[in-house]
Amino acid sequence: MSVHWRITWFTAAWLLASVGLARAQAPGGEALARAAGIPWPAVIAHRGASFDAPESTRASYTLARELGADYLEMDLQRTRDGQLIALHDTNLGRTTNIAGQFPAQKDLPVSQFTLAQLKTLDAGSWFNQAYPQRARPTYAGLKILTLDEIIDIAEQDPTHHTGLYIETKAPLLFPGIEKDLAAKLVQRGWLMANGQVAPQRRLVLQTFEKNSLTLLNQFMPKVPKVLLLWVGEGSIEPKTEAVFDPASGEDKAAFYARQQPRDRTEFERWLAFAKANGAVGTGPSAALSHGGEQSYMDLVQPWMNQMTHAKGMLVHVYTVDDPVDYQKVMDAGVDGIFTNRSSELLKFYHRPASRTVQQILTANGY
Ligand code: G3P
Ligand code: CA
Repeated sequence: MSVHWRITWFTAAWLLASVGLARAQAPGGEALARAAGIPWPAVIAHRGASFDAPESTRASYTLARELGADYLEMDLQRTRDGQLIALHDTNLGRTTNIAGQFPAQKDLPVSQFTLAQLKTLDAGSWFNQAYPQRARPTYAGLKILTLDEIIDIAEQDPTHHTGLYIETKAPLLFPGIEKDLAAKLVQRGWLMANGQVAPQRRLVLQTFEKNSLTLLNQFMPKVPKVLLLWVGEGSIEPKTEAVFDPASGEDKAAFYARQQPRDRTEFERWLAFAKANGAVGTGPSAALSHGGEQSYMDLVQPWMNQMTHAKGMLVHVYTVDDPVDYQKVMDAGVDGIFTNRSSELLKFYHRPASRTVQQILTANGY
């Protein structure tokens, strides 16, 4: 009996020491990023430099590239005639003049339009109306872009440092889009025959959908992938079930800031899924200091980032624009930031662009 207990105690002590050692030796985010070939900390230009120019347009992506962002972020969708394009919303109402151009079809999803139809739309004027202080006459008439055109923009970086960070947006609406994406990346030489990302190309794939991550991993097992995180609505199970009701009068950001995962086990379950399906990292939301449209639940609490690192994965948080929040999320342990303001994040990371936003836009004819 006493021998048995001595062995048990010895085993327990050895296990605890081993776990402690493993924790102490677990690589931090910077080492994980280096191993995955991802810049640390990463500047991910959310829909391009979309604070300063209309999102997901040539003006926005060219500006982000010339500021020096590491990645051009885009939301991938597919037209009725099978063309891959970049657009965030699943319909065209917010960011184009669809209501004037095709009034009877204004609420239809992107998948109901051909590329030729989409190319007749003005994807820039809405920005001038929404943000008059940043408006430019040349933004009027900007076009929705294809993935091919965004690849062209990235490839026009002579230093070959501009990467793509591609999200399968609402992938349930686009069966087979993961395979289509793989085929396009092969066709464009970003993926080699052995499945690796081509030398001098940076590429990350991202999705909120578990099934899409599985498919991305099936068709592109050697490409870095990130599972985007959210609480509720088919994602991480919340502590308390609640759906935001705009009629309640409550501030949306305040509502989301209250949402949290059911418990640590539930959060860990999503990390385990991500890891098992080839993800090199997660993309959690942040609750922003000043609220606003892009302020969601705080999924970058230090314990969450530590747990993610301990599983060998990185953390790229979305979507942060304010230096106060840059500091907060970096202090919490993230490894990169999706931002609409690449110019500000680059300054924060002590990598300021050599030209101002105004200079770059003017030089590019905007
Ligand atoms: O892809 C990361 C971030 O962009 C997720 O939010 O809604 O802007 O695509 P969303
Ligand atoms: Ca996105």
